Amino acid sequence: MKAISLFCSGGIGDLALQNSGFDVIVANEKINDRAQVFKFNYPETSIIIGDIWQKKETILKEIIRKLSGEKLDLVFATPPCQGMSKNGRGKLLNGIREGKKSEIDERNLLIIPTVEIFVASGADTLIMENVPEMEKTYIPHPYKHGELINILDFIQESLGKNFVRCIRNIEFADYGVPQCRQRLISIFTKNEKLKSYLQFSGDLFPPPTYSKDGLNLPLWITVRDAISHLPPLCADNPKNAKCQSIPYHYVPLLDEDKYLWVSNTPPEKSAFDNQCINPHCRFTGNQTHQAKKNSHGINRASTETPIYCQKCGHLLPRPWVREGKEYRLMKGYTSAYKRMSWDAPSSTLTRNLSYACSDNKIHPSQHRVLSLYEAMILHTIDKYPFQWKRADGKKISDKLIRDLIGESVPPLGLEQIFSFIMSILTDNHQNVTKSQQKSQQLCLF
Ligand SMILES: C[S@@+](CC[C@H](N)C(=O)[O-])C[C@H]1O[C@@H](n2cnc3c(N)ncnc32)[C@H](O)[C@@H]1O
Repeated sequence: MKAISLFCSGGIGDLALQNSGFDVIVANEKINDRAQVFKFNYPETSIIIGDIWQKKETILKEIIRKLSGEKLDLVFATPPCQGMSKNGRGKLLNGIREGKKSEIDERNLLIIPTVEIFVASGADTLIMENVPEMEKTYIPHPYKHGELINILDFIQESLGKNFVRCIRNIEFADYGVPQCRQRLISIFTKNEKLKSYLQFSGDLFPPPTYSKDGLNLPLWITVRDAISHLPPLCADNPKNAKCQSIPYHYVPLLDEDKYLWVSNTPPEKSAFDNQCINPHCRFTGNQTHQAKKNSHGINRASTETPIYCQKCGHLLPRPWVREGKEYRLMKGYTSAYKRMSWDAPSSTLTRNLSYACSDNKIHPSQHRVLSLYEAMILHTIDKYPFQWKRADGKKISDKLIRDLIGESVPPLGLEQIFSFIMSILTDNHQNVTKSQQKSQQLCLF
């Protein structure tokens, strides 16, 4: 089965595609640093580096050349998601009414060349992965001036009535990934086997293999299951912050202030709720950091949260800003400087995974953020022969690794979705069960 991958980045999602039996013949990515990682890991794939708007024709020519008369089965497209949450219909309409054209996030328009390439490639099936907000995202209709159209309806309209769609909001922890990550997976297809399977069963997605409550399925894989066996690290000094024997098992140092806040943060709590450390007081009833919706419905953290102990007046080890001799509480959400839980999947790993101030980024019990090695495990990349190397021979930076992890989805979950599709296409349903069983075994670490 032949596939192409649009917006491929470093190719983490393509691990799933490849492992479920799809041959990725052509890929496209705008950022060279990311494309170099893809190129190293997929030397057989033609990667077209550059903006999809400008490279449309080159991509199509390369597909035709690589296919040499064969059929393309699948287009996998993962356009950037940062603009999706901003362009709900109400917000766009208000912006347009007020004459603010800039309200429209250009990144959402990348769906237009995506659909054009898909249609011109003659492939049967389009699978897209994006944030759940995609379902509520609107774009200005490219061919009907002045009209707004839901992005998924635009795809359907462009593909025509011969295509059916199956769209699901997937929680990756339900597929044995030790990380909570929700993504909207949209499948559009005119393939007869997929269409009749969908008509018969009402679904094109595999059943989950794990669950939050553990009632009929094994419980979600936890952070403890995944990384508690690793040597401990501490962000107080360079010697403690790095494990010499495990590549990428190191963390950035925390400065003295941050270390004080983090080292006083109890399990599953935020440093914003830390209590008095004056040995003569140790008051534990100081008001915690709250958030509530303002009159516009936006969640705002309280500005009343104390920074001095309400009993003895001692400075609390909460994220502070120094103003002369005085201190005030740093502005921040209740999930900032917060520890993950040992007994749940990790929170979603973002590009900020090495920043203690970002949401839920502190290790469950040690005084530090996660190491890149731990992030690779929680993202299930360790299950694949992926190499953190670039085709141009340059060293891959930590920032690039964080970007590639933060913008991709855990391949182990995605693989089950692709394997399910593959099994329908090849009339081999037993394969799916086997692949799901394999992933259950793999996840039991
Ligand atoms: C959500 S990420 C894709 C993640 C990828 N599927 C993976 O598994 O790692 C979106 C990618 O689209 C790329 N991109 C953004 N604008 C683009 C454009 N105009 N043309 C081509 N690629 C673009 C970004 O650089 C980014 O790497």
